[in-house]
Amino acid sequence: MTAPLRDIVPPDDAEAQAAFDDLIASDSRIEPRDWMPAAYRKTLIRQISQHAHSEIIGMQPEGNWISRAPSLKRKAILMAKVQDEAGHGLYLYSAAQTLGITRDEMTEQLIAGRARYSSIFNYPTPSWADMGAIGWLVDGAAICNQVPLCRASYGPYGRAMVRICKEESFHQRQGFEILLTLMQGTPAQREMAQDAVNRWYWPSLMMFGPPDDASPNSAQSTAWKIKRFSNDELRQRFIGMLVPQAEVLGVTLPDPELRWIEEEQRWHTSEIDWTEFHEVLAGRGPMNAVRLQNRRDAHENGAWVREAAAEYARKQAARVREVA
Ligand code: 3HC
Repeated sequence: MTAPLRDIVPPDDAEAQAAFDDLIASDSRIEPRDWMPAAYRKTLIRQISQHAHSEIIGMQPEGNWISRAPSLKRKAILMAKVQDEAGHGLYLYSAAQTLGITRDEMTEQLIAGRARYSSIFNYPTPSWADMGAIGWLVDGAAICNQVPLCRASYGPYGRAMVRICKEESFHQRQGFEILLTLMQGTPAQREMAQDAVNRWYWPSLMMFGPPDDASPNSAQSTAWKIKRFSNDELRQRFIGMLVPQAEVLGVTLPDPELRWIEEEQRWHTSEIDWTEFHEVLAGRGPMNAVRLQNRRDAHENGAWVREAAAEYARKQAARVREVA
């Protein structure tokens, strides 16, 4: 457990605020023991804990295919990938803990259904091609969103993101390669790959969050240099990355209106279904209830591991005291 590091200097201390503002203005990092405004701390706890929960819940859609992967090699790769996601969750929970929230508090918020996690993980994975589409689209979107977070103003978050992004790049390539293999296979395999792309494309665009004019947190997070680009800017960048890759794969992006507008230097798309997005956020997506129940069950079933670890730590500490 991390001891709370709530505002070390009272927030009305103008000098401390000025020092914080200077660090932000000079693109320096804020570290755990630096004074920071309470709202900055709260925003970081919100974003980092949501991000950590996403990594942990995000293990489920792919975990679903570990026992059914089509070969030993595919199984080993998928297992490694799902383990990476667990690791990402742990780095991020640790980063959030430096802000004064405990891991237990975050876990409790998640299993009680009071915490957000990414909308994308509330969709089902009925076919093997979903493993390809998740890697290519979901991890691809994650990279677009998360590479700028390596420069986030809060040190522990930015540093955690560096390693996470390296691993996400491998995840994206493995997804691309699964789809490429399927697209070079039989007509049924090609159809399966296209079907998965059709199902994951729009939800992956929603991962970047609401449009800029409906994003309540963006302005402040950008001023604090937590966010470096807006939701819409990153969504546009992602589409630009996908278009040439879709051509290489031979899949069609399921948007008949998708085209580049040269004069405006932007991609024109059909309207994203924001009603669907808000339904998923409200807990009414296709898999919300299942994801949360699985997480609760895993937490309850793991109680004996936590108890054993705590008992082991207690005995070790007692032994050290005896020797000393
Ligand atoms: N799913 C669920 N909630 C979302 C969301 C999404 N795709 N996009 C936005 N929201 C929520 C926000 O959390 C916020 O809710 P809150 O105020 O109650 O906390 C609300 O919608 C309004 O959105 P804003 O744009 O104002 O919120 P932010 O400024 O925080 O921007 C974000 C949203 C771009 C997701 C930002 O928080 C962010 O960059 N987070 C870090 C990255 C992250 O969490 N990614 C999740 C995916 S993890 C992953 O992809 C794992 C990998 O292995 C594939």
